[in-house]
Amino acid sequence: MHVPRVYISQEQIQSKVRELGQQLTEVFEGSVSSDNQLVVIGVLKGAYIFTADLVRNINLPLQIEFVRIASYGDNMESNGVVSTPDLSLPANIQGKNILIVEDIVDTGQTAKFLTSYIQEQFYPSKLVLVSFLNKQSRRVVDINPDYTCFDIEDKFVVGYGLDYAEQFRQLPYLGFVDEAV
Ligand code: IMP
Ligand code: MG
Repeated sequence: MHVPRVYISQEQIQSKVRELGQQLTEVFEGSVSSDNQLVVIGVLKGAYIFTADLVRNINLPLQIEFVRIASYGDNMESNGVVSTPDLSLPANIQGKNILIVEDIVDTGQTAKFLTSYIQEQFYPSKLVLVSFLNKQSRRVVDINPDYTCFDIEDKFVVGYGLDYAEQFRQLPYLGFVDEAV
């Protein structure tokens, strides 16, 4: 197997995720309680590892949900179409504090779609979007994560949940993939 070159190390990732968890704990501290838990919605598949690591650093009562959305085929360019294999969410998240957890905001189409959907369907009392990565230079729609771990250049990256043609999600670090793979 071709091994992607390290772009962001496991140690750098773990320390950023810890920091972000503490920051989000402070953001939601005053507004959530055991009777009114924070709702964390992870976006599958890309954000499964980030979500798992992040929630272990949020020191608040919370409920975890997942949706499954895709906007990429098995290539490096967004096809611009957001497909929604599974958007089912329980009715009890209505009006709650909601934290959406994305792997990367690239063109922004997925994040824009999902934040609008959650807003319109569930009227959250607070809606926060976090994305592990932010590729600002690629944006085609007007959306930005409220919090991000790393702002990255326009390079295709894999690992820590992100794939290239369903490969490399399990890497504990973030790596570069060359076109030649
Ligand atoms: P967007 O809708 O264009 O913002 O794309 C979001 C989705 O594209 C992400 O959830 C990823 O699955 C995928 N994606 C975008 N950039 C990369 C990358 O560099 N590596 C792997 N997946 C990516
Ligand atoms: Mg993908």
